[in-house]
Amino acid sequence: MAAAFLPTATGLFCGSRVTGTVGAPCPSALRPAPPPSLAFFPRRAATANGGVDAAAAAAAAARRAPLRASVAAPPPPAPLLPVPAAATHRATRGLRGVRPIHTALITGASGGIGAETVAALGQLYPDLRCLVVAVRDTEKARARLLGSDGELAANPRLAAATVLVQVELESVASAVAAAEEAVAALDRVAGCGLDLFVANAGVMACPQAVTEDGFEKQMAINHLSHAAMTRTLLPALRAGGTSADGTAAGPGRAVFVSSTAALIASRYTALPLPNVRTAPTAAPFTSYKRWVQYGESKLANAVWAAGLAAREAAAATGVTAVSVHPGVVATELGRYLLPGWLAGRMGTPPAGLAARAVKVAGLKTPPEGAVTSVRAAVAGADALDNGAYYIDGNVKSGMLKMLGDPAAVGAFYDETLAALDAVSA
Ligand SMILES: NC(=O)c1ccc[n+]([C@@H]2O[C@H](COP(=O)([O-])OP(=O)(O)OC[C@H]3O[C@@H](n4cnc5c(N)ncnc54)[C@H](OP(=O)(O)O)[C@@H]3O)[C@@H](O)[C@H]2O)c1
Repeated sequence: MAAAFLPTATGLFCGSRVTGTVGAPCPSALRPAPPPSLAFFPRRAATANGGVDAAAAAAAAARRAPLRASVAAPPPPAPLLPVPAAATHRATRGLRGVRPIHTALITGASGGIGAETVAALGQLYPDLRCLVVAVRDTEKARARLLGSDGELAANPRLAAATVLVQVELESVASAVAAAEEAVAALDRVAGCGLDLFVANAGVMACPQAVTEDGFEKQMAINHLSHAAMTRTLLPALRAGGTSADGTAAGPGRAVFVSSTAALIASRYTALPLPNVRTAPTAAPFTSYKRWVQYGESKLANAVWAAGLAAREAAAATGVTAVSVHPGVVATELGRYLLPGWLAGRMGTPPAGLAARAVKVAGLKTPPEGAVTSVRAAVAGADALDNGAYYIDGNVKSGMLKMLGDPAAVGAFYDETLAALDAVSA
């Protein structure tokens, strides 16, 4: 059941999710107790966490030693910035402030929720110094985002600071190469690390397939390749971005786009990572259930986020991570379930009668679908329960039982790392 606006002061959810997973202190225990709320934007935090100088100094210290296993305490979050008056995207409504973001990387922004996430971020951060968009089809993304009526058309400066990187998420090697290319682009364009990684790309209920690495395809695209990217990006995330005048934003954040389809798999106490090389006679290679595999991959997104949050909190790096469910959104995601003529029409936000049909069907439009990702991306660290799973804009949900089992979260995190090591060995 969704839990909205419950008091963090009780420690209830923090304690039941990631605390102690891998010896990680509850992140909120490392800070002064926040006022009671689990919403992302309950208040301005501009002065509550120290001034700009303190935040910049702490972030600069983290940048000097981004790979150190442990530091004394996580750097304090940077003060929130005002929301630009020109920000009118659905996902920006009602925001009272946003954390500083100078650099960002998003996967799968060639359409759907990803393209809308870019549109909203572009409005909230018109001076973004480098936006890396990692997509399977760079020409499709170029037309969608940078074309004359694209999401970034109104901001030529940001369009010029956008770098398109090709990635095929079926392949772990491609994911790692794309992340390396992204890090190089950040360095080249902005000379700094990464403030935001949105692991958005995904595939749903596709026919059975095994990737070149031996993994079930949905798990490979949705989870494993994003985990591989995370690992490659971690030094850049720990360093965070800097403004043009050298002011550091502090450590970065990773947002993993999960789904309530994870509930299909939430009966698990241990989540399997299906690899045909090690389990050729086991499901899903012998009996494939497309929805179960989708659900497992989306649970994997949420568990990975919780594990990452716990590990980074234990190392006091300041990097934060959450997962989100965007809602049920009219996009191309249903391409394997819909007739071709209909699936092809789901690529752009519906208008007129089609928009009404979407409403009648109880679906969200892509701009509405981007709200939860964007809020998770821009919320101040004080307003975020590190490692949690958010739905409906900014509501923290306890629906994924596995997130309440620190040992299972830690074990799956390690199993994912081992699977990635096995691929690259
Ligand atoms: N729509 C919903 O109702 C819903 C609900 C819950 C969760 N989600 C999640 O939201 C995220 C975004 O989905 P969406 O609804 O916006 O769907 P979408 O419009 O189909 O977008 C998916 C994106 O992922 C990319 N992608 C797919 N396979 C890829 C691969 N092998 N390598 C690289 N990129 C790949 C697609 O690239 P191409 O353009 O090249 O195909 C596209 O950019 C997904 O993670 C999905 O699971 C969606």
